[in-house]
Amino acid sequence: MERYNYGMVGLGVMGRNLLYNIADNGFSIAGFDLDEEKVKELEEGATSTMKVKGIGSLEDFVAALESPRKIILMVPAGKPVDAVLENITPLLSKGDIVIDAGNSYFEDTNRRVADLGSKNLHFMGMGVSGGEKGARTGPSIMPGGDLEAFNLLQPMLEAIAAKVDNEACTAYMGKGSAGNYVKMVHNGIEYAIMQLISEAYDLLKRGAKLNNDQLYEVFREWNNGEMNSFLIEITRDIFQQKDTFTDQYLIDQILDKAGAKGTGKWTSEQAMEIGVSIPTIDIAVTSRILSAYKEERVQASQLYPKAEIATPENTDQFIKEVGDALYLATLISYAQGLALLVKASEEYKFEIPLKDVVKIWRGGCIIRSVLLEKFYTAYTKDPNLSNILLDADIAAIVKEKIGSLRKTAAFAVSSGVSGLGLQTALGYFDAYTTEYLPINLIQAQRDYFGAHTYQRLDREGVFHTSWQSVNQ
Ligand code: 6PG
Repeated sequence: MERYNYGMVGLGVMGRNLLYNIADNGFSIAGFDLDEEKVKELEEGATSTMKVKGIGSLEDFVAALESPRKIILMVPAGKPVDAVLENITPLLSKGDIVIDAGNSYFEDTNRRVADLGSKNLHFMGMGVSGGEKGARTGPSIMPGGDLEAFNLLQPMLEAIAAKVDNEACTAYMGKGSAGNYVKMVHNGIEYAIMQLISEAYDLLKRGAKLNNDQLYEVFREWNNGEMNSFLIEITRDIFQQKDTFTDQYLIDQILDKAGAKGTGKWTSEQAMEIGVSIPTIDIAVTSRILSAYKEERVQASQLYPKAEIATPENTDQFIKEVGDALYLATLISYAQGLALLVKASEEYKFEIPLKDVVKIWRGGCIIRSVLLEKFYTAYTKDPNLSNILLDADIAAIVKEKIGSLRKTAAFAVSSGVSGLGLQTALGYFDAYTTEYLPINLIQAQRDYFGAHTYQRLDREGVFHTSWQSVNQ
């Protein structure tokens, strides 16, 4: 009986595309799905050079895999993963490897690693980014966990991943559930950048009064320069997409309510949990929540009508400033996400190689951008950099753009355009770069009403004062 190198459970678009990518690279692979149609369609969609087999019975699927079995799961995070594991683990043998390639919560992965480990099976969490197209042509792949299991997978992962300068966009992300954690933070940064781009769009549309053709030109120019990135590129294209129901541009027909599947929220929760400040990511998460209050927003906009937004005096200069502000706020969002990874690596003993994280994000993933090249240089100089803003070359970029971020954020404030992402990026930068924050006052207040104590600048120790109320 023919045995296959790999197995894929879950033949939705992502699973099927990843499977074809693996097969394209010379590995034989069997696919399983509960949906018989998907199993049938698998071989129909394969090319003649691929060694691909759709199998509708889980027993037959497991039996068709070479040992140790290497089974990739591409099923929705949460209960579906547990359901697959419950059914498949009794069929597996010692040393087999199960790789969860979905956006699973890292704590779930920890639980599954322990559970399968007790049965002498390997379980790995592996982030995959790049959407449907990326899965098919080359995603960024973030595996973590058991090193021995990773070594077995490495040649295949390097073959199917996106390439930048001939280097594969995949690397070992660390111990335990590091792969899921890194992917979660990737998504948190993705939320922040998307929020920032939407604010830049709003300012250009309602401030500079640009139409979709002009917006296309601006984003085209941005994407041809230092702002080159996947998200800027697709935004450029979005402004040219015509609607099929009307002859209008599609963007103007889309309801302004954003969905979310949870990875952004998890990033924010995690940052709070382990004490890392990531306000631009937090704001991006909460802005999606706020967007859902559509009916209330309509009501409030009638109660608080806004004056016409004044057009900036020099449109070209305004566009340049918005571009620089977006660039810098994006940089600051990456800084926040990377700082979270630094802390999480310590906290959970992941041993995440930050240099490799930014290296493999340079291609294939949703947050890929040429800016990551500069981070890669920074981490090559100092792999233990606690915050990317502390690198001298990054500081030079920040100093050049900070004036534009201030002006753009100020324009948003004075014109009543919500610019929460831009403003929090600026606020984070201002707080992070301030030697003495006004938090001395918060400590005094805490000690005043709750005897919570405070530390002093001039001597060691913990102090409490009997604060005197001054009755005037
Ligand atoms: C990726 C994406 C992918 C997915 C997000 C969308 O890296 O390929 O991040 O994982 O599109 O989960 O997340 P929301 O639905 O929460 O926006």
